[in-house]
Amino acid sequence: MAKKVTISTLDKMKAAGEKFVCITAYDATFARLVSEAGAETILVGDSLGMVLQGHDSTIPVTIQDMEYHTRSVNRAAPHSLVIADLPFMTYSDSTQAMTNATRLMQAGAQMVKMEGGVWLSDTISALVERGIPVCAHLGLTPQSVNAFGGYRVQGRTPKEAKSILADAVEIQDAGASLLVLECIPAELASDISAKLDIPVIGIGAGAGTDAQVLVMHDLLGLSDHQPRFVENFMAGAGNVQDALKAFVTSVKDGSYPREEHSYT
Ligand code: KIV
Repeated sequence: MAKKVTISTLDKMKAAGEKFVCITAYDATFARLVSEAGAETILVGDSLGMVLQGHDSTIPVTIQDMEYHTRSVNRAAPHSLVIADLPFMTYSDSTQAMTNATRLMQAGAQMVKMEGGVWLSDTISALVERGIPVCAHLGLTPQSVNAFGGYRVQGRTPKEAKSILADAVEIQDAGASLLVLECIPAELASDISAKLDIPVIGIGAGAGTDAQVLVMHDLLGLSDHQPRFVENFMAGAGNVQDALKAFVTSVKDGSYPREEHSYT
């Protein structure tokens, strides 16, 4: 049986310049397939609100939903590191974040993910000090879709780019173990990945990050809307397992993402 991936595995991979892979999963069967395909990390994403529940955003997802799906993923006992999203408004202060992160850790997550920058740094420090590892998420943070006025690429103006970079440094200093960068220009994501010691996972952020993540339904070509950064790995694959493996291989050998998947 493959050895369980931990944050130190990912730190070593970053130091060695080896790319790693994250795929979302929400149940035991797909968690097993993702793990067997060789993805180092599984994200129990609040994207489940869209791909499982049929909402048009992640905002309706509850902590109970996330607990249920985290437990299901954890039952597959994957060797992959399991990260679970704290949903909308479940971490608006450190005390609330602590209570809800505890629920996800007790459901089987090994790390929690939260969307936000500087304003989150005290919360990140409080969780990390008490033994809860944190993955931060910057750029197009889907829980803020209403504030952004839609799902738009972030960080294109010098002011926005500067603010995302400052947020990234701040969350690392606060103790975050990982950072997800979503839908930002490839050059900015590459600069942030080079500047930070912690591993950076990109989605729609070009090829210069330390890892890539995709929503499983997107990479399997099951979603009705395919954003520019998504490749359908089911095309040309005989079955789901081959498609998941093709994604893992393409990230590791650098053939995904290509320029056509990136933003400037
Ligand atoms: O919820 C999710 O699946 C995510 C990824 C898009 C990074 O946050």
